[in-house]
Amino acid sequence: MNICNREGDPCAEMAMVCLTDFEEYAKEHLSKATWDYYAAGADECCTRDDNLLAYKRIRLRPRILRDVSVSDTRTTVQGTEISFPVGIAPTAFHCLAWHEGEVATARATEALNTCYIASTYSTCSVEEIAAAAPNGYRWFQLYVYRDRKLSEQIVHRVEGLGYKALVLTVDVPYTGKRRNDIRNQFKLPPHLKVKNFDGVFQETGGPEEYGIPANTLDPSISWKDVYWLQSITRLPVIIKGILTKEDAELAVEHGVQGIIVSNHGGRQLDGGPASIDALSEIVETVQGRIEVYLDGGIRTGSDVLKALALGAKCVFIGRPAVWGLAYKGEEGVREVLQILNDEFRLSMALSGCRNVAEINRNLIQFSKL
Ligand code: FNR
Repeated sequence: MNICNREGDPCAEMAMVCLTDFEEYAKEHLSKATWDYYAAGADECCTRDDNLLAYKRIRLRPRILRDVSVSDTRTTVQGTEISFPVGIAPTAFHCLAWHEGEVATARATEALNTCYIASTYSTCSVEEIAAAAPNGYRWFQLYVYRDRKLSEQIVHRVEGLGYKALVLTVDVPYTGKRRNDIRNQFKLPPHLKVKNFDGVFQETGGPEEYGIPANTLDPSISWKDVYWLQSITRLPVIIKGILTKEDAELAVEHGVQGIIVSNHGGRQLDGGPASIDALSEIVETVQGRIEVYLDGGIRTGSDVLKALALGAKCVFIGRPAVWGLAYKGEEGVREVLQILNDEFRLSMALSGCRNVAEINRNLIQFSKL
């Protein structure tokens, strides 16, 4: 499908005001199977939907008369400064949304000076991504495969390419049941590949799952694999997919440098908590010993503000970045990030915060009596 040429497209002049405008555009312009793949949640999609609804249940306690004529959205993650506390979560197959795929995403995040977590399941290789945005700040998202050599090789590749952290996704011992992908028999089109593993898997004609042979992921992965990962890398390890205080404590005890509170956009266990609802108990347990981040359902600047008020150091967006790509590639992702930045700055100012250090739990209304 050609979504690059928007001449004569009635939507071309439509003002893109908020992230849901990009969602509507993507829904209208992507093929049904691609749209369904990006939108999918597991089973009945309760957790996917609650990720968004949960923010709407939270109310803010704005402070007034605090001279917000100058505001500063900068923060740091793992000691590196970024322009505002929103990065890009790892999502697969960007070439389905835009022909340049992850290369466009990498350029947009470099331009906005924020963090891009490149997915293992990218349709551009880690080398192509690094070359496209040489000054970009990047982490790499990793799964553990039955064949540990495969994970090991990619860890060494990204280390050499200047990726600054490894994000170990721990909520996929098996892939969640996404009904529409089954109905659509979702498959990568033949011209696209999981580029990081180009040539690694033989074409067996056997069952495939999202671009690689089924059963490649290792469901026996456990805490000892965190030690294994630390033993083969000098990069900081960040665990993505923690939803309880018990696992947060174990993560700290295992010496990881960060946690991403996440339910994988509701694509894995249906019936788990919205990620924003899981954040507080994790922040309370971690007590500042490592950084805590969050993804899932961030759609507005006030969502970002609420997550920071509840203790997240930074948040990440998954689907909205893909909608930006579907709209206009690099420019579309830039627009999505810029809109979130502008909205976040406004929400900060309207609640009396001049910088991110001033955002804290007092901004949240816990009692509605
Ligand atoms: C994902 N996510 C994901 N996570 C991961 O660790 N590795 C991956 O390859 C992918 N791929 C992926 C594809 C698609 C289409 C989606 C929607 C999500 C999960 C992702 O990193 C993140 O947790 C959620 O997308 C966050 O929720 P929102 O922002 O999409 O609501």
